[in-house]
Amino acid sequence: MAVRELQHTELPFPNGWFAVEFSKNLAVGDVKPVHQFGEDFVLFRTRCGKARLLDAYCPHLGAHLGVDGRVMGETVRCAFHGWQFEGETGKCSCIPYTERIPAGAEVRAWEVQEKNGLIFTWYHAEQKPPDWDFPELPELSDPDWSEHRTFEFEMPTHVQNMNENNNDPVHFLYVHGAPEVPPTTLHYEDNGRVYQAISEVVKQTPDGPVPFKLVRDMWGLGLAAVRFNDIPGAGLLMYSSTSPIERNRTVSRWILTASNNVVDTVGEDFMDGLMKGIMQDTNIWGHMINRAQPILCDADAPLAAYRRWVKQFYSEPV
Ligand code: FES
Ligand SMILES: [Fe+2]
Repeated sequence: MAVRELQHTELPFPNGWFAVEFSKNLAVGDVKPVHQFGEDFVLFRTRCGKARLLDAYCPHLGAHLGVDGRVMGETVRCAFHGWQFEGETGKCSCIPYTERIPAGAEVRAWEVQEKNGLIFTWYHAEQKPPDWDFPELPELSDPDWSEHRTFEFEMPTHVQNMNENNNDPVHFLYVHGAPEVPPTTLHYEDNGRVYQAISEVVKQTPDGPVPFKLVRDMWGLGLAAVRFNDIPGAGLLMYSSTSPIERNRTVSRWILTASNNVVDTVGEDFMDGLMKGIMQDTNIWGHMINRAQPILCDADAPLAAYRRWVKQFYSEPV
């Protein structure tokens, strides 16, 4: 029976670093609820400027700390009875109207890293600590590169389906209007955690066809950078994060930038084109199912390699 729910293979949440918010959307003193990995959190920025992520529900009577909660120094204060929780440890450090802090007055504090314009947390299905990291991208803090263009959207599909898109060369022909399937080579680094795919692409321009390289780096299922850097001293960068909200709901956050010396000539057009290109995938993502055992053909070799690579990021067999 061709019913979407029945044909769907449930994939679990993958382990790794996942963005929870753009840095620019969390000012000092901001407190907000976050829902990702099927769980509820409070995200806040302390007076010292640290982004903190705690489990949402107050151990007292269960209020959501992200709803009307308030930053007090390095803590967040529950709106219901004023208990304060340390951002770093999640422990209750102050109940303003009583001396003794009861045992168990704490919530889980999640690992947070802030870099490349995003706030990240580490998710692991077995609650194991981080065993790999991801780099700062120099372009994102370089004054010779343009101001970041950002956007985000949600899709009713598993995070792997969106992340996989970079490794599906054939779809560029049918969904994005590429003239041919680009030849692609694959590299693995850092014990296989970093996956790099390089495609030789020919772009049609008013001055004729221009060949360039598309270099995609991926760090787990939450992070990818796509670079176009064939012009010496100039470049374009597309940084994308995909984070699971629920098993089959994903939020995708994007940062685009171009080096200042090309931003006015090709950069703006290119970034516009990329944003439109990403939107071309959304109708597919919005209606597809997960196939655990897809029938692949020879041209799907990069896709098959990607599916072998992703297995390491799951705590259960996929
Ligand atoms: S529910 Fe949070 S302080 Fe009472
Ligand atoms: Fe695509």
